[in-house]
Amino acid sequence: MENIVSTLVYILLFFSTALYYYLSKKQERKNKGRAKLPPGSMGWPYIGETLQLYSQDPNVFFAQKQKRYGDVFKTNILGCPCIMLASPEASRFVLVTHAHLFKPTYPKSKEMMIGPWALFFHEGNYHTHLRKLVQSSISPEALRKLVPDIESIVISCMETWSSGLVINTFHEMKKLSFEVGILAIFGRLEIKYKNALKENYSIVDKGYNSFPTKLPGTAYHKAIEARKRLNQIIREIIWETKEKKILDKDLLGYLLNYKDERGQTLTEDQIADNIIGVLFAAQDTTASILTWILKYIHDEHKLLEAIKIEQKAIYKLNNRGKQPLTWAQTRNMPLTQKVILESLRMASIISFTFREAVTDVEYDGYLIPKGWKVMPLFRNIHHNPEYFVDPKSFDPSRFEVAPKPNTFMPFGSGAHACPGNELAKLEMLIMIHHLVTKYRWEVVGSKGEVQYSPFPVPLDGLPAKFYKDSTNQ
Ligand code: HEM
Repeated sequence: MENIVSTLVYILLFFSTALYYYLSKKQERKNKGRAKLPPGSMGWPYIGETLQLYSQDPNVFFAQKQKRYGDVFKTNILGCPCIMLASPEASRFVLVTHAHLFKPTYPKSKEMMIGPWALFFHEGNYHTHLRKLVQSSISPEALRKLVPDIESIVISCMETWSSGLVINTFHEMKKLSFEVGILAIFGRLEIKYKNALKENYSIVDKGYNSFPTKLPGTAYHKAIEARKRLNQIIREIIWETKEKKILDKDLLGYLLNYKDERGQTLTEDQIADNIIGVLFAAQDTTASILTWILKYIHDEHKLLEAIKIEQKAIYKLNNRGKQPLTWAQTRNMPLTQKVILESLRMASIISFTFREAVTDVEYDGYLIPKGWKVMPLFRNIHHNPEYFVDPKSFDPSRFEVAPKPNTFMPFGSGAHACPGNELAKLEMLIMIHHLVTKYRWEVVGSKGEVQYSPFPVPLDGLPAKFYKDSTNQ
């Protein structure tokens, strides 16, 4: 029996390899006479180089490939042929100047989990309108008004850390960024709704990166069920908001008020998908960078002292923290601003993004065939010594001079660039202010290792102990 099975496996392997080479040759013949594909290797039939990518730090994989093949190279990940782009010019080509030749692309299972109407899956009119609504809800004018509420969230989250017990910093930062996300979307939301959203969203969050199967009991199936409940909760909030006829200038207000050229409003599904989409885009990204900031400034003692001087001057002006921070004060924290930019560069939490060629495209003499994925590699650009001298060292002073064009893209670029970047930076500024003026913290047992969840985060979420700084009482 064993022999029969292994013979069958060998036959299957033989035929699938033969088929793979036949299809590759056919593609090569088709490409003859046209621009050539970039250098690189496509790995094994079907799985491509997926194992090499995921069996190590993905950034090592990208960096090795770039060293061997240059800034534009091909590979195959999860059965998808990809072209990776590690130069500022190539990223600009795909994301900005020739963006119409590429479309956003996400695995179907992720699209279903977030909701197919979320703006990042779309292009054209629908995308433009939805994007404007998100941008209006977190415009500088709107953010100015949010400062006191964000500050209250930061203060109350930090209060719970200061017991001297070891906390998982990333988990705590996720609580913080979730609360701020809810605030930006709904304004002040009734606690019963907030708790219901929190409970179900955390189930979605746990299942999001698990294997997509409809088998009951699996993390993915539980997440799909929780996602349905989230729709129902958002529906109830919509009905109640409409009943009260108070349409605030938060994201929900903008979504409910919207009418297109033909007077058509958004459906409840469209509203729910975009709310979950924004929450999803806002939570782990911001929590990850907040965690990195805490680590970087913990490791750089001199820098921490300099940040303290900047922040304590504001703290004293505010009657030792008895008066709230103002928007104007958050606009005038020059060193802290540079620390944030350098943290975004160093951590490069969105290491790359995906697009798909909608037609055959030629770039710099290379062919990008229709249907292939393209991946601008932000992290490779942020860590290239040609653009950032001594890229492994944490040096906020490098941002005293503006980076060269298209070399600094922590929030992406072009039509899909992050609309939440100013909100995220505001959270960072307020968090740093309260952290360095009122707390001391010790990182427990971290040796600088990174884990991917899926954003890079210090190992185990950066376990740390926090203490109220008695010199400030
Ligand atoms: C440090 C935190 C954040 C980082 C590093 C970040 C990064 C990014 C990047 C790189 C993109 C572009 C992806 C692409 O082109 O494929 C993006 C898109 C997006 N981000 Fe953020 N983001 C952060 C926080 C936020 C926050 C707080 C919000 C909340 C409003 C948000 C909402 C969005 C949305 C809605 C999109 C999709 C935009 C579109 O498709 O037009 N992000 N983000």
